[in-house]
Amino acid sequence: MTEIMKEKKTYYITTPIYYPSAKLHIGHTYCTVNTDALARYKRMRGYDVYFLTGADEHGQKIERKAAEAGVTPQQYVDNIVAGFHSLWQLMDISNDGFVRTTDDYHVACVQKVFKKLYDQGDIYKSSYKGMYCTPCEAFWTETQLKESGGVCPDCGGKVEEVEEESYFLNVSKYAPRLIEYIETHPEFIQPASRAKEMLNNFLLPGLEDLCVSRSTFKWGVPVSFDDRHVIYVWFDAVLNYLSKLGYLSDDDSMFKKYWPCDVHIVGKEIIRFHTIVWPIMLMALGLPLPKQVYGHGWLVLDGTKMSKSLGNCIYLAEEPEDIKKKVMSMFTDPNHLRVEDPGKVEGNPVFIYLDAFCRDEYFAEFWNDYSCLDELKAHYQRGGLGDVKVKKFLNNVMQEELRPIRERRKEWENHLPDVLDILKEGSKVAKETAAKTLEDVRH
Ligand code: ME8
Ligand code: MG
Repeated sequence: MTEIMKEKKTYYITTPIYYPSAKLHIGHTYCTVNTDALARYKRMRGYDVYFLTGADEHGQKIERKAAEAGVTPQQYVDNIVAGFHSLWQLMDISNDGFVRTTDDYHVACVQKVFKKLYDQGDIYKSSYKGMYCTPCEAFWTETQLKESGGVCPDCGGKVEEVEEESYFLNVSKYAPRLIEYIETHPEFIQPASRAKEMLNNFLLPGLEDLCVSRSTFKWGVPVSFDDRHVIYVWFDAVLNYLSKLGYLSDDDSMFKKYWPCDVHIVGKEIIRFHTIVWPIMLMALGLPLPKQVYGHGWLVLDGTKMSKSLGNCIYLAEEPEDIKKKVMSMFTDPNHLRVEDPGKVEGNPVFIYLDAFCRDEYFAEFWNDYSCLDELKAHYQRGGLGDVKVKKFLNNVMQEELRPIRERRKEWENHLPDVLDILKEGSKVAKETAAKTLEDVRH
């Protein structure tokens, strides 16, 4: 007698692959820990999860950094990527895969995709003259730069003029389909405000074809049929989500099993690459799009985005005590360190607190469940982070009421059936406290 095993539902979740241009700070950690929380949550719910993170190792920025340090680019990235691994170990990240864009399977995949799109006419050769931001590895049009006053619209830094023979991706051909897709799939870009941004700022005004190769430096994946060119680092990078699954390789069983991706978790500055460039590449390849791209907010230090290129970073020291202190500083001194868009679910410091400190996989669900919290959230948004009562509420719920639940996390993993009960308990307590606080705030 054969018993047909019911196949588990799959869940494919990714973080961005971070640049090893410098060591990672708590902004990267924030993203990875959140993603980890979701991955753990889905596993506990019985999904067959594949959680991927990695390193984005090519590009002009890395080449320059390595030259400054007097080492080869490969030596440079090897050293920094070793630090990624120890950080994720420290944070107890449960990733299933780690992709490096210098790995052979990845390079092969990128070359095949480039060739395939060239052969089918979606990539063509021309020449590029325009402005480039090396820290962001992004091309900008005149109109975009006019609006930003001549600096990079993303990082506010200097852009440089580049003029070179290049290959282009025929983005304009697919733009109408993408617009329609975004308009008919409200779940695709989350939070919804980011979808509006993409439509209004980029898609509806009209896209220019994207330059997808560079020929004035060397550190990248060579175009297989024209090795004076290296492939544009973003074209190379987004393909990590497929290459690690064996797409276009001898064994693509992982690809068949996990694609399309359930959610790409990314910071809001790179949502554009994930919801415009990447979907267009996938359309050109005839592949389904990821089900969702989630753009989270930034950690902001003294009013400025924490950033490797700016150097205003907080790093996690070796001892976890230190992590707690740093994260707690968000409550004690929100003007110093905060999440950029308070009031939105993803920008709420509660998430950082929970995710970086308590690692409460269930909070997202609680939060969505708190209808009585909507008013509180609105209040919180109006009052900003300085609102003492709301802060007190957050502290109380997170530190006191939910502490016993947090402490039982290890147990949960062994006693899955109990988990939902514990959850319900916690949710009830939190809801009651929220209702009380809301009363308070109203008066
Ligand atoms: O963009 N607050 O890599 P990257 C919150 N290699 N999150 C932050 C943050 C902050 N201040 N700073 C960084 C790249 N992050 C590309 C990605 S993916 C195919 C290629 C997080 O090293 C956030 O998730 O600049 C952001 O999107 C990511 O790190 C960017 O890391
Ligand atoms: Mg960046």
